[in-house]
Amino acid sequence: MIVRRVDFGFTPEIDIDFFADDPIRSYLSHAYWMTMPYLEPHLMRTIRAAMNVVRDETLLAEMKLFCSQEGQHYQQHAAVNRILKARNPAFCELEKIEADLEADYHRFTAEKDLGWNLAYAEAFEAMTMTLSCTQMEMRIHDEMTNPIRDLYLWHITEEMEHRTVCFDACRAFGVNWWRRTQIGREARAHYLGYVGRFYAAFLELDAARIATKENEEKRIKREAFQKSFVKQHLLRNLGTWMPWYNPRRVRMPELFEEMRVYYSGRIVTL
Ligand SMILES: [Fe+2]
Ligand SMILES: [Fe+2]
Repeated sequence: MIVRRVDFGFTPEIDIDFFADDPIRSYLSHAYWMTMPYLEPHLMRTIRAAMNVVRDETLLAEMKLFCSQEGQHYQQHAAVNRILKARNPAFCELEKIEADLEADYHRFTAEKDLGWNLAYAEAFEAMTMTLSCTQMEMRIHDEMTNPIRDLYLWHITEEMEHRTVCFDACRAFGVNWWRRTQIGREARAHYLGYVGRFYAAFLELDAARIATKENEEKRIKREAFQKSFVKQHLLRNLGTWMPWYNPRRVRMPELFEEMRVYYSGRIVTL
């Protein structure tokens, strides 16, 4: 695992309809990424707190790298989120959702115990790992444009790369399968609830522009994609709820190693 600081070349003019030139598909990704500047710092706070109690040197080194990778992720996504928000004055409405989410995560850190926060982190990491594997296997990036395509591929590659860290931290802290799944259900509902709020807001606040780009062909392609994605993702997702689940045993897509090497070659030094 390494930390890859990459210059994606974001400018105010980047293509925000980066996914199949379809704002409806693109906004679903943007909705996930709106959460990153709040979720990923929460993961980092949680893992840093757990580092005070973990004694295994290998795991401690991985936890440190995990925090560095997530730190890069949320800063890169925050840059794109700022560009996106500048595109439409109505997007200032998104800030209310952002404030709610940020407050939730600070409340979780202050009021919930470390085991709860670790189980939340692992629920997110397991979900993002299975989504990333399915997306990479389906090569959905072939329908994307840069620079957001690169941001997305770099992020999912590192999510797969650090997939064992929160799982191992949960184990080291004594969070058993039962607690992990109980809190995991709550965590995914909380997180996906916010993704839904961001997505609905994007669709509503940008409805006029979306309508100018929408057509029957796009709708049919979008629905076919959603169906095949759900089908391919279902078993992988179910696997994360099983008592024998271990992210170490999940087979990575063929492209994974190639992407690790590719984005390692894109590292910039400041
Ligand atoms: Fe991340
Ligand atoms: Fe992650």
